[in-house]
Amino acid sequence: MSGADTELIRSRIRAQMPTARGELATLVGFRSVADPRQFPVEECVGAATWVRDAFLAAGIEQADLVEASDGSLAVIGHSPAPAGAPTVLLYSHYDVQPPGDEALWTSPPFVLTERDGRWYGRGASDCKGNVLMHLLALRALRPDGPLPVGVRIVVEGSEEIGGAGLHDLVAQRPDVFAADMIVIGDCGNVEAGQPTLTTSLRGIANVVVHVETLAGQVHSGVYGGAAPDALAALVRLLNTLRDEHGDTVVDGLDSTARWGGVPYPEDRFRSDAGVLDGVSLLSSGSVADAVWARPALSVVGLDAPPVVGSAAAIVPRASARLNLRVPPGLDPTVAQDALVAHLEAHVPWGAHLRVERESVGEPFLAATDGPGYRALRAALEAAYGREVATAGEGGSIPLCTALQRAVPNAEIALIGVEEPRCVIHAPNESVDPAEIENLAVAEALLLRALADRPET
Ligand code: BES
Ligand code: ZN
Repeated sequence: MSGADTELIRSRIRAQMPTARGELATLVGFRSVADPRQFPVEECVGAATWVRDAFLAAGIEQADLVEASDGSLAVIGHSPAPAGAPTVLLYSHYDVQPPGDEALWTSPPFVLTERDGRWYGRGASDCKGNVLMHLLALRALRPDGPLPVGVRIVVEGSEEIGGAGLHDLVAQRPDVFAADMIVIGDCGNVEAGQPTLTTSLRGIANVVVHVETLAGQVHSGVYGGAAPDALAALVRLLNTLRDEHGDTVVDGLDSTARWGGVPYPEDRFRSDAGVLDGVSLLSSGSVADAVWARPALSVVGLDAPPVVGSAAAIVPRASARLNLRVPPGLDPTVAQDALVAHLEAHVPWGAHLRVERESVGEPFLAATDGPGYRALRAALEAAYGREVATAGEGGSIPLCTALQRAVPNAEIALIGVEEPRCVIHAPNESVDPAEIENLAVAEALLLRALADRPET
């Protein structure tokens, strides 16, 4: 692709950025958390409808809302390929993580707000900014006539809760996903301005553990000392899940694997993760070993009496939600079974234990040596003027492996606007609009470049 091509595409995309900001504001305004206990289902319906209409307006011939098995709505679209041209599937999700404590946000989570050149809001980067990336790329090709390749659109509505709905849809209707290349727009660069291909993802195998020791709460002075305290039992149990190096310990799971790719420099990790001065990193391995190649267990929720309002009484029951990340090569169901068995084996004092399993998500390893990847690398390099980096990723996108199985000939590539400063899933999530622009340029260049290749 020539520099003139790149500049033409860039000028078309740059001209759309003010519109894109307004569109992202509209999309972020839908509180599309896929949990009707937290937000009305109309919020997700509104976001799904907006996404469908936006892709239709961008030139996708046909797009529908499809109800998935978990009740969520997926936007499924298709523009057939011109004769001889390949088909590219563009994936993202419109559901978002809950905002959490809104007091921790500098501006309201569902009002897109600009500060210091960044746009803040829940989902601004994960993953609504990536929806805009796809839209901008498609629109940049419109002045040239019909789309040069076949395009499929899949924008799901329950990725953040495990993506079970789409997982079933892949099994039931693989035709909807048939493509030569799949661009997963739900990742990000190692830093803004450094184009990055994500080559692996961890899977996920969460559980919720409930511990019960007493029929009810009793006076801590009268009974404390002999009465088994459920919160203490839970703390002891959770403590068995780490060793003295901070490595995750689940009986039967290997915690010694090594990452074979490019390292994750420790100083960059400390800065990305906001690790406080004097606080040490966990793991006996390198940062990349720990976050990309090994299992990791985090306690992400705890049910116990809040400090304010707590009585001087022994806690009879307590629960924790355990988030287990599973590296490529490890079956998440096997990992979840091992975690349940570990908890059962280590619960102290005969406390009553109940473990609820959440649905598992598979890890993913990309095959990065096909022609689509070559075209994508060239497109990213043209858009950013820098060589492409590769990196692993500790997060999960459960659909990727299902797609790999259902569409085995498709190359699956992971890109997106979610760089570390976005602090996805945290308060004050944001996006760098320059990343939306550059990635849209790259994606448009990719679609053009693929048009010149025969279908595979
Ligand atoms: N976009 C993330 C995955 C990701 C994280 C990609 C960091 C690149 C960098 C995705 O939306 C996500 O958060 N997935 C969930 C899936 C889970 C709930 C099954 C995750 O990893 O927690
Ligand atoms: Zn996410």
